[in-house]
Amino acid sequence: MFRTHTCGELRLSDVNKTTTLAGWVQTVRKFGSITFVDLRDRYGITQLLFSESLNEKLEANPLGREYVLQVTGKVNERSNKNTNIPTGEIEILVSDFSILNKSITPPFTIQDDTDGGDDLRMKYRFLDLRRNAVKRNLELRYAVGRSTRNYLHENNFMDIETPFLIKSTPEGARDFVVPSRMNPGQFYALPQSPQTFKQLLMVSGYDRYYQIVKCFRDEDLRADRQPEFTQIDCEMSFVEQEDILNMFESLIKRIFKDVKNIDYTENVERMTWEDAMWQYGNDKPDIRFDMKLCNLKFPGHTFPSKPVISALIDGADFKVFDEAETVIAIAASGCSEYTRKQIDELTEWVKRPQIGMKGLAYIKYNNDGTLKSSIDKFYPEEKLKAIAEAVNAKPGDLIFILAGAEERTRKATSELRLHLGQFLGLRKADEFKLLWVLDFPLFEYAEDDNRWVARHHPFTSPKPSDIEIMINNNPVIDNPAEYLKHPYANIKANAYDMVLNGNEIGGGSIRIFQKELQQKMFAALGMDEAEQQHKFGFLLGAFEYGAPPHGGLAFGFDRLCAILGGSESIRDFIAFPKNNSGRDVMIDAPSTIDDKQFDELQIKLDLKQ
Ligand code: AMO
Repeated sequence: MFRTHTCGELRLSDVNKTTTLAGWVQTVRKFGSITFVDLRDRYGITQLLFSESLNEKLEANPLGREYVLQVTGKVNERSNKNTNIPTGEIEILVSDFSILNKSITPPFTIQDDTDGGDDLRMKYRFLDLRRNAVKRNLELRYAVGRSTRNYLHENNFMDIETPFLIKSTPEGARDFVVPSRMNPGQFYALPQSPQTFKQLLMVSGYDRYYQIVKCFRDEDLRADRQPEFTQIDCEMSFVEQEDILNMFESLIKRIFKDVKNIDYTENVERMTWEDAMWQYGNDKPDIRFDMKLCNLKFPGHTFPSKPVISALIDGADFKVFDEAETVIAIAASGCSEYTRKQIDELTEWVKRPQIGMKGLAYIKYNNDGTLKSSIDKFYPEEKLKAIAEAVNAKPGDLIFILAGAEERTRKATSELRLHLGQFLGLRKADEFKLLWVLDFPLFEYAEDDNRWVARHHPFTSPKPSDIEIMINNNPVIDNPAEYLKHPYANIKANAYDMVLNGNEIGGGSIRIFQKELQQKMFAALGMDEAEQQHKFGFLLGAFEYGAPPHGGLAFGFDRLCAILGGSESIRDFIAFPKNNSGRDVMIDAPSTIDDKQFDELQIKLDLKQ
């Protein structure tokens, strides 16, 4: 037998047992005539003690870091106990050992606090994976997957695989394409998600489908994006939005319970897309803290249902606000004693190109009720007080005001809110706050092509009350500058996103299931009939054979794991991730291919410079 126990298993109750362990040498320490070795495997670390009698053999067979070692010996109570590890009360008095394999010196230490930088650890990811910290992340990922499968199985969902070699229908991200040898000059695409297949499965009658599945998107990468990532992809038939929200918030609650032992008993909050943008400047607000935006000024058509309160700032002859399209304030609670230097630093922060604002106005609402402001030349105290009240500030708060073009200002205020929230310790890693964002716009304006694109995807249904608007209006945008005034800009979708601590962890929609409405949707996106047939003829055809009403959603599995594990980066939760340029630096991919492979594909490479 190779081993009788693992390196994480033995305790005081095993003292005097004879054991055989196998693992990797983490450290070798010599004390006079005896040698201590920490032996590591997936389950833990056990201390080995080599007494003087083994010195001759050790000299003939010296041990080194990461050697694969098998030892036999007796479990012994340690005189010097280590309370930090579960095996810390015992050690193995080694009677014999054998080196199963040697290792060259690893490029970094395989320990929690490793000395290896990111690039090095990515290149030697197979060594990085030996580290506890990375292993814990993969264990968490496995637990999230297990919990998901159990829940979905208990609820009658069936795991059905869908193909990876499919047809290119770029919408949203770019496709990765794969040349076909048997069909020269033709290409498969890797799926950005199994969207159309899961809908076809609904037509086939598999009314509850799921898959934990790889998706491929050729898009710019960030900490929370990888070119290949994993979704928990689900679809249901004969459901309304409410059924889906209930089914999947229960899934997430179950994962919280199984993986983190958190009882998330409260209802998941819900917010319309419009309220999210209005109150937080963002469609995935972090609601662990309040600090809502106060829209002092905005172009009327962007939020037609919201109150205009620009009288608070109008008429003061303050050019910056008068000339700005949008003015938004937020109150940082308890910050009225910020120093000049602290405010200057924040001003520099909003001026960085990523945020792109020209400046930052402030109003200090002092504890004694007086107000002091960078704009008090223009606004007397009672006006400042009215602004403070509009933003729900209390004495002791510091109000910040940003002014500029609508989209940029909204985004910048949202970023400033998150920045302040972080700084003030309001975004606690161990607090989890779920939110459904509902009623997204159906369309988004694509400036480059002056046309509408689907905000979620082209299979999302409009709100029933908005279908008429879609059918009765021409999608053509005559005046690009005023696209927001086009009736299509106000059409709402039966779409929903789930947000966790300010991250979009999932999204989905109730789908279009009638052929005619689907054709109308494709036409609204600028596809003529021939293009519709070429790209989606299979789906339109299937809809002629009794498609049931259906809807679904997909969670970003890697993202969910990262947030539950308290990390910003999804890479830490993927066994073999790509770097920011989409490279796997360990296997060195992507790479060139042989001439023979090009010949077989009948492709001649002629790269455009
Ligand atoms: P969507 O495109 O919103 O929906 O994707 C669902 C979720 O997947 C995660 N995600 C990503 N994670 C890592 N890297 C990426 N590049 C990446 N892109 C997306 C996000 C996102 O919320 N077919 C639809 C779902 C549906 O309608 O049922 C879809 O793919 O967490």
